[in-house]
Amino acid sequence: MQVVIVDTPAEAGRLAALKISHLVRHRPDAVLGLATGSSPLAIYAELTREVVDNGLDCSRVRAFALDEYVGLPPGHPESYRAVLDRDVVAPLRMDPSNVHVPDGAAADLAKACADYEARIAEIGPVDLQILGIGANGHIGFNEPTSSFASRTRIKTLAPKTRADNARFFEIPDQVPMHCLTQGLGTILDATTLVLVAQGEAKADAVARMVEGPVSSVCPGSALQLHRDANVFVDEAAASRLTLADYYRYTFAHRPDWQRFEDF
Ligand code: F6R
Repeated sequence: MQVVIVDTPAEAGRLAALKISHLVRHRPDAVLGLATGSSPLAIYAELTREVVDNGLDCSRVRAFALDEYVGLPPGHPESYRAVLDRDVVAPLRMDPSNVHVPDGAAADLAKACADYEARIAEIGPVDLQILGIGANGHIGFNEPTSSFASRTRIKTLAPKTRADNARFFEIPDQVPMHCLTQGLGTILDATTLVLVAQGEAKADAVARMVEGPVSSVCPGSALQLHRDANVFVDEAAASRLTLADYYRYTFAHRPDWQRFEDF
């Protein structure tokens, strides 16, 4: 796992975005995995700047969302389909028909999950999966004790996750109880993982993900099993990493072939 500690949330987003724009420039029809929430917003802002100022062409990029709420009416502004359309698809000038989101409004949710996995198998593998991490260690909406072998399925959101996401809704009770999420097994199939985390509230989860035991109690620790997991954190999110100085040292002395930020 590569752990990169930077001064600001914006810098974490900028470095992660550089990795993504490098991929898209070399493979214009790359398959991206998209996260929602606050963590990746700096990535999307930086990619938008690349599109507008430097001609990055995302029109052929294919994408799969990590997750979707269950039970929100189609078009609800906080459905992840709507959030991605607003924050990612439109600003990056992507083709909406290339962007796939689990169907949380489907009558048959189990079939919607199976269909989603089949679509990923058909179009994928995902070249680069963008991730955030929940304060309880979840990635996607794989809450603690999710199986490392899990595939896209329905999950019950943890009370902590519902409370954390209440900021996006008028009243906390409006946060859906259930979601569809790619499984940890689905996420681990992506070729490259890029996780961003900012702020003190994530420090404990980041420490458990990077340095704790590999355990389903911290779903993020599944990244320790991946051959190309990259974690970009600001100082606050890194504040409980015991080996922080070592990560700074290895990043400062990384070999030329790892210098993605020079592209
Ligand atoms: C969202 C997702 C979640 C979030 C996590 C952190 O698609 O998969 O795992 O990344 O809940 O949320 P924020 O970034 O809002 O703190």
